[in-house]
Amino acid sequence: MSVGTIDRPDLQWIEDLATLREVCEREFVPEAGERVVFGEGPEHARLLLIGEAPGEQEAESGHPFVGNAGRLLNRYLDKAGILRELVYVTNVIKVRPPGNRTPRKSEVNVALPYLLRQIELIRPAFIVCLGSIAVQAVIDPKAKITEIRGQWQEIDGIQVMPTYHPSAVFRDETKKEWLKQDLVAVGNRCLPLD
Ligand code: URA
Repeated sequence: MSVGTIDRPDLQWIEDLATLREVCEREFVPEAGERVVFGEGPEHARLLLIGEAPGEQEAESGHPFVGNAGRLLNRYLDKAGILRELVYVTNVIKVRPPGNRTPRKSEVNVALPYLLRQIELIRPAFIVCLGSIAVQAVIDPKAKITEIRGQWQEIDGIQVMPTYHPSAVFRDETKKEWLKQDLVAVGNRCLPLD
């Protein structure tokens, strides 16, 4: 991973996840009427999914992947035999970028230390990086998703699957197949999750 984790040595254990949420809620300021989307799921999840940034519905509700991309993701998780309730889901960026634009590098650099600490606290065995923002944040800033998708990586003892973001596959049948296939590979390797 390219950037260090936040300088909060007091946040070490899974019990500290609630404090990390509060820290993020202070640190990241959403647009009026929107919320910080910290992420959610079982604290001891073996599988962590990381997306890019909340969209409109996520920022309104405070929950990750609840819009169109989330519905597609749920469908493919289902096909892979992965129960979303057993997975922790979060994003690199915790507030919606204005106008849903792609997050800037500077925004990723500010948000990444918090994500890294979130990963350290949850200690998942497996991570799925959905889309190139997550792939470059977690695996390698120079990684090209078209070159490494579908290939397991190992980062700090965690097995990481890079794949396409659900929003990127809507109008591309080939990418849809890859995403589906990559999630099936994740299911094959990490099930059972409980
Ligand atoms: N896209 C993301 O990357 N994350 C969400 O939570 C929703 C859409």
